[in-house]
Amino acid sequence: MAVGLGAGWVRAGHDVVLGSRDPAARRRVAAEVGVGASVASINDALSAAEIVILAIPYRAAESFARTHAAALRSIPLVDITNPFDNLPDNAISGAEITARAIGKGGRVLAAFKDNFARTLLDPVDPGVMPRDVHYAGDDPEAKAILAGLIQDLGFKPVDCGPLRNARILDGMVTLMIELDRRYSGGNGKTSWKFLG
Ligand SMILES: NC(=O)c1ccc[n+]([C@@H]2O[C@H](COP(=O)([O-])OP(=O)(O)OC[C@H]3O[C@@H](n4cnc5c(N)ncnc54)[C@H](OP(=O)(O)O)[C@@H]3O)[C@@H](O)[C@H]2O)c1
Repeated sequence: MAVGLGAGWVRAGHDVVLGSRDPAARRRVAAEVGVGASVASINDALSAAEIVILAIPYRAAESFARTHAAALRSIPLVDITNPFDNLPDNAISGAEITARAIGKGGRVLAAFKDNFARTLLDPVDPGVMPRDVHYAGDDPEAKAILAGLIQDLGFKPVDCGPLRNARILDGMVTLMIELDRRYSGGNGKTSWKFLG
């Protein structure tokens, strides 16, 4: 996800830094796949960021947010991590847990949860419609920045309301995988379309 999103934003003219626990190893990978982004330690990436995309496994998200809470209180964070059945009852979303770990002042958004990685560099589907990116959050300024970034990738931003609606987005991921398997052979190239 980080490589796909990073490559798309580099292509759109943004400066992208991929934060990694092992920047030397990831620098080689980034060069191989031609992502065009620089790679830095997590702390260095955060210190330069205007907005952060959290693209790590869900199981690591809460502790990441807690560890870097001080830095993340001054930067909007987009949580794209998918909890799957770690949060089966929809009583809270992964993004709300991340927001809680960052604490007061954090500006957490949820987005890209129900977009397959394989569609990230293919934002317009074969029916010539931009694919939707659902996002949710409570901070209007952070949401406006994110909507612009989604548009810069070539996708259609779809504002799904407050952060608590990330609970619904978390559930839509499992449904997306089910529909993709049933109707597209599980190729990971399908996406949602809201016809407004
Ligand atoms: N794949 C999809 O189609 C898709 C779609 C929507 C959302 N998502 C969500 O997006 C997130 C990223 O997905 P992905 O497929 O890109 O994941 P991934 O390749 O498995 O992991 C992304 C990166 O996370 C870092 N990482 C791994 N374990 C970590 C840990 N314990 N603590 C901190 N960092 C760790 C690693 O980078 P370093 O080793 O360089 O630090 C790794 O390259 C996931 O939460 C996933 O559920 C995925």
